[in-house]
Amino acid sequence: MNPHPQADIVAGTAAAPTDEWWASAVIYQVYPRSFADGNGDGVGDLAGLITRLPYIAALGVDGIWMTPFQPSPQLDQGYDVSDYCGVDPLFGTMEQFDELLGLAHTLGLRLLLDVVPNHCSSEHPLFQSALAATPGSPERDLFHFVQGPAGGSDVPPNNWQSVFGGRAWTRAAPDSQTDTDWYLHLFSPGQPDWNWRNPAVGDYFDDVLRFWFDKGVDGLRIDVAHALFKADGLPDTPATLEMVDGLRANPQVSDQEEVHDVYRRWRTLANSYQPHRLLVGEVNLEPARAARYTRPDEMQQTFAFAFVKLGWDAAAWAAVGNELEAAREPQGAAPTWALENHDIVRSATRFGGGELGSSRSRAALVALLGLPGPAYLYQGQELGLPEVDVPLEARVDPMWDRGGVCRDGARVPLPWTADPALNHGFSLAGSATVPAAEPWLPIPSGWGAHAIELQQSDDESSLALTISALELRRKLLAMGILGTDDAGSWRVEAGNLLICERSTDFFVAVAMGTEAVRLPPGTVLLSALPLAEDGWLQPNNAAWVWRGEGWVN
Ligand code: NOJ
Repeated sequence: MNPHPQADIVAGTAAAPTDEWWASAVIYQVYPRSFADGNGDGVGDLAGLITRLPYIAALGVDGIWMTPFQPSPQLDQGYDVSDYCGVDPLFGTMEQFDELLGLAHTLGLRLLLDVVPNHCSSEHPLFQSALAATPGSPERDLFHFVQGPAGGSDVPPNNWQSVFGGRAWTRAAPDSQTDTDWYLHLFSPGQPDWNWRNPAVGDYFDDVLRFWFDKGVDGLRIDVAHALFKADGLPDTPATLEMVDGLRANPQVSDQEEVHDVYRRWRTLANSYQPHRLLVGEVNLEPARAARYTRPDEMQQTFAFAFVKLGWDAAAWAAVGNELEAAREPQGAAPTWALENHDIVRSATRFGGGELGSSRSRAALVALLGLPGPAYLYQGQELGLPEVDVPLEARVDPMWDRGGVCRDGARVPLPWTADPALNHGFSLAGSATVPAAEPWLPIPSGWGAHAIELQQSDDESSLALTISALELRRKLLAMGILGTDDAGSWRVEAGNLLICERSTDFFVAVAMGTEAVRLPPGTVLLSALPLAEDGWLQPNNAAWVWRGEGWVN
């Protein structure tokens, strides 16, 4: 009954130092609203994160990425930023942020923030000035203010659709006869797109990056990184394109060549600090195009989006894995692996739900942490949390209102305690007389079964498995058994056994079929579930296998 490392390392095996810290880093994504609520108002905050940070350090990850906590009307849960260099009072103060950063570093954790350069909030002072200014003014040129083809009519400048549904244009002054400008928003009307063809926008963001890097922030996750530049002249999208997955389907709104100059400039800035700062991009493009953002002088990482949303399908995993490897540019970065984030359905649900989905998400997590390259875990993934069907009346995602897709189910507050008091321990303040406020998204019944405190005292829990996998990963990297230069070669063997060969000595195996399958020879170092029989993997189990010698059982 030991799902954890099944062998100890013989001392003295050759050690290979890693190059840059991020090359094989595992980063834990914190969604601050739902991590821990320090003041009992039902919304997670910096105080809660400070208190609970030792939990993350104890996982054995290398750092955290925090989604936005900057001042924002919170129309899109912080991805509508009205002040890039502040802290929203909902989450706390800049003093608390400084304390958090100091504590993270003391605990050996790097801290990455989210930067949102494609759009800001319609409450941002520069957008407010633009609205107050006249058509054609320099203030309006910071954004995409454009007249419709028929002056004041209801026809927008082009046919672009918003990623959240509906058209990507809103009238600047709907009641005016003289101001007939529309402004562009690839997301909600509360998120106007910056005009990156105006050099003042680039200068503005240089200052934003410097502000956080000067504080000691270790890196940035770049929101919708590929969309900053739109096709010159903002032409219509060809009518023949099927408008699914907005940005990806519309070649006019993203992946313009000019955007690469931004990341070359940002990389120069990031490298002007010691230690160098990390840039990780949300570049939701097919592998060959996404790989161009991790050329040696651009970002160090982009999430492997082709992988993020895969179902339980060995052939699809192998095809995508090989496609990602083939797409790597010379000296370009390895794929950056993730299976979950705050925008997609939790893997336990995506992979089938219930017991089945739960076993598969454990297996997928073991696979993820064994692949060559950096990996990101989303808070709650280590607990095997399922997606929650948030009641209709409680949904707050703007995508739900505009597009019918709801991302709230992956954003429900973490269960810290089995006892429902204080929102299952999510709220740290509150008492019998002054109870904590209801959480910002309702916690479903049964949530306590996933509680961190229960999993901490259960050797077979998802949490214990995650900690063991991370510990073994660090050891294998230190010994050089896993290398930062490894590349994956993927295949499917009989019985839907997925194999990713990472080096001649090490492979990851996932049993994705319905029968137990025999593993290729080697020593199983780790498995998601205990092996029923030596050398055999039961369905929905995964293993790390080593072909070398020098282990003591
Ligand atoms: C990607 C973010 O992850 C998502 O949550 C957000 O809604 C959009 N970008 C727009 O900023």
